[in-house]
Amino acid sequence: MSNTFGTLFKLTTWGESHGPAIGCIIDGCPSGLTLKAEDIQKDLDRRRPGQSTVTTGRNEPDKAEILSGIFEGKTTGTPISIQIKNTDQDPSKYANLKTLVRPSQADYAWREKYGSIDYRGGGRYSGRETATRVAGGAIAKKILSTQNIEIIAYTKEIAGVGIDTDIIDYSNTTKLKKLIESNLVRSPDPEAAKIMEHAIQQAKKDSDSVGGIIEAIAFNVPAGLGEPIFDKISADLAKAMLTIPAVKAFEIGAGLELARMRGSQANDAFTIVNKKIRTETNNSGGIQGGITNGMPIIIRIALKPTASIAAKQHTVDIKKNKNAEIQIIGRHDPCIVPRAVPVAEAMMALVITDHALMTGKIQRKL
Ligand SMILES: Cc1cc2nc3c(=O)[nH]c(=O)nc-3n(C[C@H](O)[C@H](O)[C@H](O)COP(=O)(O)O)c2cc1C
Repeated sequence: MSNTFGTLFKLTTWGESHGPAIGCIIDGCPSGLTLKAEDIQKDLDRRRPGQSTVTTGRNEPDKAEILSGIFEGKTTGTPISIQIKNTDQDPSKYANLKTLVRPSQADYAWREKYGSIDYRGGGRYSGRETATRVAGGAIAKKILSTQNIEIIAYTKEIAGVGIDTDIIDYSNTTKLKKLIESNLVRSPDPEAAKIMEHAIQQAKKDSDSVGGIIEAIAFNVPAGLGEPIFDKISADLAKAMLTIPAVKAFEIGAGLELARMRGSQANDAFTIVNKKIRTETNNSGGIQGGITNGMPIIIRIALKPTASIAAKQHTVDIKKNKNAEIQIIGRHDPCIVPRAVPVAEAMMALVITDHALMTGKIQRKL
């Protein structure tokens, strides 16, 4: 089993959805970084369940406890261990899942591989594991902020309702972040956000779920990050994003749209802006040849509709080896997208921090 991500900046996550706690260990964090539990808590609060009417009803405070790696308010370069206690488990809701496998969840595949599953919400493969990534990612973001690198993600589409990208003002990131957090779906287009919220509520009423697209952008990333041939930063970002449960597609820059363009439309012409080499467009999403080119890194991920829905579905009883029907009564997100926004930011931060350490753009001692 693989529970560690990263080469120099390593995140190891542990714990199950219905165990006493979940947590992570960050190894390779530079020393001298000012770090408080609040730095981590801010992002955990954006991911935590029970935060609004469009998320799961499970109400976890997701309080981060830092157990090691900090002395007198600064990182020491030693492993940082973070624990988040599980406080609102309700295993009774999962009793019917002892022998029934949930369609499009990981139950069947996991059972085939390991011989058994934690039927109480999936245990290790529950979306709950992503809280620990957010904790590790918050530290990575803090490290990146020392280099003025900033990561912002938002909801681009839910249930086929897209945002008007022309109205996004990327020049003031503080304002942009506030706007994204001003609605329940984390969208920078308040009008589209209302329609998305409605689509989620409607799906919930119908005992169903919806999916969507998240866009994540990293600003002020220096040119030169990425280790071709096999550790291209684009490849590492793709892997990072595809490890997020429910993520089914990944794009960089113009992504799939590039396949429909001519070279003359797709090529990013070089130009000098304030004495710096930049490109007029950014269809490459800030990465060429697997190496950053100094333009913002732009990526997108598609999340499928939540697999656990209350509507009746066909499945099998694996004990009886017979066809059966399933109705999932646990507390689930009718749409995962709003809570996955900070998870995407965290995974992007982990990758960029790791590569910045590899190229020496960030030192071991801050
Ligand atoms: C923040 C977050 C919350 C999630 N919550 C749920 C949930 O309530 N119900 C569910 O079926 N899946 C949920 N998932 C997705 C499942 O964990 C995922 O679909 C499942 O493990 C199967 O993996 P796959 O979809 O990547 O194939 C969540 C994912 C994330 C990132």
